[in-house]
This record gives sequence, C-alpha cells and structure tokens, in this order.
Amino acid sequence: MGKKLAKEEFSLLKNPEYSAKALQLYMNKINLGSIDKPDVALAYTGPCGDTLKIYLKLAKNDVIEDAKFQYKGCLGTACCGSALTMLIIGKTIEEARQITAEDVLKELGGLPELERHCAKLAITTLYKALEKLENARR
Ligand code: FES
Repeated sequence: MGKKLAKEEFSLLKNPEYSAKALQLYMNKINLGSIDKPDVALAYTGPCGDTLKIYLKLAKNDVIEDAKFQYKGCLGTACCGSALTMLIIGKTIEEARQITAEDVLKELGGLPELERHCAKLAITTLYKALEKLENARR
C-alpha cells in the first residue's frame, strides 16, 4: 500500500490553480530541511501567521552553496520555500538580493490568488537573513 496522502496534500492535488511545477516541488520536498552549522539561519513570521526559516551555507567567494528551509503554515509557503532556495543556490549574495517575489512566483508557474503573498513572505525572510549575515560581518 502506498503512503497515505496528508489532508493538505490531497487538497493541493485537487486545486487546479496549483501549477505542475508547484506540485512537483511540494511533493518532492525540494530543499526542505535544515543545514548543520549554517552561515546564517533566520525565521520570519508574516502578518498572516505563517513562518518560514531559511538556512544558508556560503562558499568562500560569497556564493550560496546550499540553502534549506523549514516552514509552519500553508502549502504556498512550502512551495515558495522550495522555489526560493532553488533560485538562490549558486548565486552570490549580491545576486540573491536582486531576486523578487515575482521571480519566485514565476519559478513556481504562479500560485492560487490567496497564496500569492507567500512569495512575499519568502523574499522578506531571504532579505532579513542576508541583512543578519551582513550585520554579523561588521
Ligand atoms: Fe500567508 Fe502562506 S498563507 S504566507
């Protein structure tokens, strides 16, 4: 017998507003987890109550060599955590700073209207993590 789908996974599959890409990232839990001894880890809770935590590991040349996330909240937040970490791995800190919520939504092939703000949560968490990193280096 296959693994039983969690209730939220079932609702995700039923909602035609989720793109195939978003479904694939969510079901495969892309980059979900934590990093041992990260260069920076930061959790941010948005106005809606969802929380995203980002872990970044940097190479010597300031390239993000690994990124992981954990979340508490909606499916859109999980999808955005995957898309965001995919977008920033291999980028320099400066390049990561240029990524926007629209880029995250584009990477996902969009999100249901009610969850489009999850991309904003993901980007705010990233910017705050980069700011923390910068402050720690001063
Ligand atoms: Fe608010 Fe996902 S529902 S961030």
